[in-house]
Amino acid sequence: MRVLVATEKPFAANAVKAIKEEIEKAGHELVLLEKYTELAQLLDAVKDVEAMIVRSDKITPEIMDAAPKLKIIVRAGAGYDSIDTAYAKEKGIIVENTPGQNANAVAELVLGLLVYAVRAFYNGKSGSELIGKKLGLLAFGNVGRNVARIAKGFGMDVYAYDAFCPANVIEEAGVHAVASQEALFELCNIVSLHIPATPETKQSINYALVNRLPKGGILVNTARKEVINEPELLKLMTEREDLKFVTDIKPDADADFAKLEGRYFSTPKKMGAQTAEANFNAGLAAAKQINAYFADGCTKFQVNK
Ligand code: 3PG
Repeated sequence: MRVLVATEKPFAANAVKAIKEEIEKAGHELVLLEKYTELAQLLDAVKDVEAMIVRSDKITPEIMDAAPKLKIIVRAGAGYDSIDTAYAKEKGIIVENTPGQNANAVAELVLGLLVYAVRAFYNGKSGSELIGKKLGLLAFGNVGRNVARIAKGFGMDVYAYDAFCPANVIEEAGVHAVASQEALFELCNIVSLHIPATPETKQSINYALVNRLPKGGILVNTARKEVINEPELLKLMTEREDLKFVTDIKPDADADFAKLEGRYFSTPKKMGAQTAEANFNAGLAAAKQINAYFADGCTKFQVNK
């Protein structure tokens, strides 16, 4: 089988090497398309491959239609909002992700952003500490769980709400479960978003919800920019000068948020999963999943059943 690694934003070199070895070990061939700039390059590369490994690359119906032999797409990462999973299902193409493989990288960045925020963005002025602060996790998946683990090391008091994870599972992980996202925002000094971008969650982080944060509240977003209602958050932060917002996904209204001096920070590029380890883990997991699918039809991580 021919397995295409199509990454606009390439994996680290050691990850590509590990993917190649894994794919070749199973008798398949690796085709590499990195840093492509034109859709035409991707359309050409998919035309005779049976499998694809991608990162945040947008996989549209047009691309799937150009790939008549394609059986499986593995998104090396967690969020698969970049792939038209419904269309893939219609065409009988399996879509998988690699849950958890890059979660620690994102979680470490959350704490990095938080230290930066509470220490006045390292501007030389006095700040505050994370110890004893209440941290709310909106969703308790792989990233949320890793954030909880690290935050506890900082001595934070960790709370979580997850619409799909029962309270007892959250409590078993040593985290306080709360009954709703509204309660989470009301209770916590800091809320970190770990929800996927779905029709239900898009724009859901709005004025009314964030306004529940107590005085001095901080919102952290390392999920997707689409979950935030930017005009409403901007309006709120203009009215409430005590709030801070830190993110690794530049909002569309970055220039407007940047006017909230000392209360907003965005990394120049999405960078939660930009580590050698995350690349290696997610890339290699993707290769193994493809091999398992071709070897015995394993679809354990399929997201478009
Ligand atoms: C994810 O969904 O796994 C993260 O957003 C990381 O994605 P990336 O590796 O494409 O940046």
